[in-house]
Amino acid sequence: MNILILGSGGREYSIGLAISKEIEEHNLFFMPGNGATDNLGTNINIKYYNDLALWAKENLIDLTIVGPEAPLVDGVVDIFKENGLTVFGPSRAASQLEGSKVYMKNILKKYNIPTAAFIETTNEKDAHDFIDTMTAPIVVKADGLCGGKGVIITQSKEEAKEAASDMLAGTSFGDAGTSIVVEEFLDGYELSIFAICDGENYKVLPAAQDHKRIGDGDTGPNTGGMGAYAPTPLVNDDIYKKVEERVIKPTLEGMKQEGAPFEGVLFIGVMVVNGEPIILEYNVRFGDPECEILMPLLETPVSELFYKGATKQLDKLDIKIKNEFGVAVVMASKNYPYGSSEPAEIIVDEIVDEDILENTHISYAGVEKDGDKLFATGGRVLLCVGFGTSIKEARDRAYALCGQVHFAGKKIRTDIAYQALK
Ligand code: AMP
Ligand code: GLY
Repeated sequence: MNILILGSGGREYSIGLAISKEIEEHNLFFMPGNGATDNLGTNINIKYYNDLALWAKENLIDLTIVGPEAPLVDGVVDIFKENGLTVFGPSRAASQLEGSKVYMKNILKKYNIPTAAFIETTNEKDAHDFIDTMTAPIVVKADGLCGGKGVIITQSKEEAKEAASDMLAGTSFGDAGTSIVVEEFLDGYELSIFAICDGENYKVLPAAQDHKRIGDGDTGPNTGGMGAYAPTPLVNDDIYKKVEERVIKPTLEGMKQEGAPFEGVLFIGVMVVNGEPIILEYNVRFGDPECEILMPLLETPVSELFYKGATKQLDKLDIKIKNEFGVAVVMASKNYPYGSSEPAEIIVDEIVDEDILENTHISYAGVEKDGDKLFATGGRVLLCVGFGTSIKEARDRAYALCGQVHFAGKKIRTDIAYQALK
């Protein structure tokens, strides 16, 4: 097939890498891709989605896979479908599950899906009155997309009121915060569960854990994610079953009733509280870095999974997952997540250890090419990914690979998967 992948991160690289390893040969195109995706296929750069759809038609693209949320919320899937193209991802309407926290919370409420008690409002007094009925910690969220930064966990009512007032006044998150959600704090452990959906049917992937804070022991500011592993032993069949029955099925049914059937990747952010899965949020695409371990753990060809997802044939697919564990360690640049860093050349040692060579790989993210050299130019630069028959073995291999990859200012967390190993 001719396959187009939208996005430029480690997530999109890992989708491309998995497809490039399939038995069947495919031609890969990335828009815009990064300094390493052009080793897997061809990077293209077309700014407007209408032009991109025309290009896809002219170039006989059989399947388009959309990585990040922004093009989905902008309606790229609708434009591609109007042009008769096969595309895997949710429509603009269905993407509101991620594009608007107010929309998401109202869907959860309407279809009785377990989530933190909340109010949504555009009114300061309503927010303050609700906060007065709560006990801290209290969570205040901006409605719109804020690149993962629109959530504030406050430790007192006063702090919560201030956060709510700042958001509503548009001072902290601009227009994204003029509508807000105030909700109770959930105390538990977090999971990322992904369901591949075709509007009607779904396939659940092994549960993963992300590591959102910059520092070891979950300290410091939030990031896009500093590492992930899967499958996590923190999930048992009971939790998977509850997530399917109480969350995935009613969501797919509800979205059909709303006239916005959900096709694509439903990313379920779960907090497990006393053994019960409670929904923190939905995203409408793969997590990054979770995708980088889930793609290589799939035995089913990734292109087939997404093609069947895009053509309402998931009921005809028997999804197979490798009997292995994966651990991904993000290597970030010096000033991440505070600011950008000077470009730094990336040097990867020749890897002679057969064990490392066979059971690890790099997934490239914020990199640019200059001649035959690769430079770290983004915040999250690359991921060292390891596999093994246990989480410990996979993690040891990922960290062994980290020791062989160098650039000035490289920064990693040293405790990825700690919750599974403690
Ligand atoms: P969200 O973008 O809604 O997933 O929020 C970002 C992060 O904030 C989540 O991954 C959680 O770690 C945390 N968070 C969000 N909502 C809550 C909540 N109600 N209780 C506890 N932690 C939360
Ligand atoms: N890893 C979390 C996210 O992609 O939002």
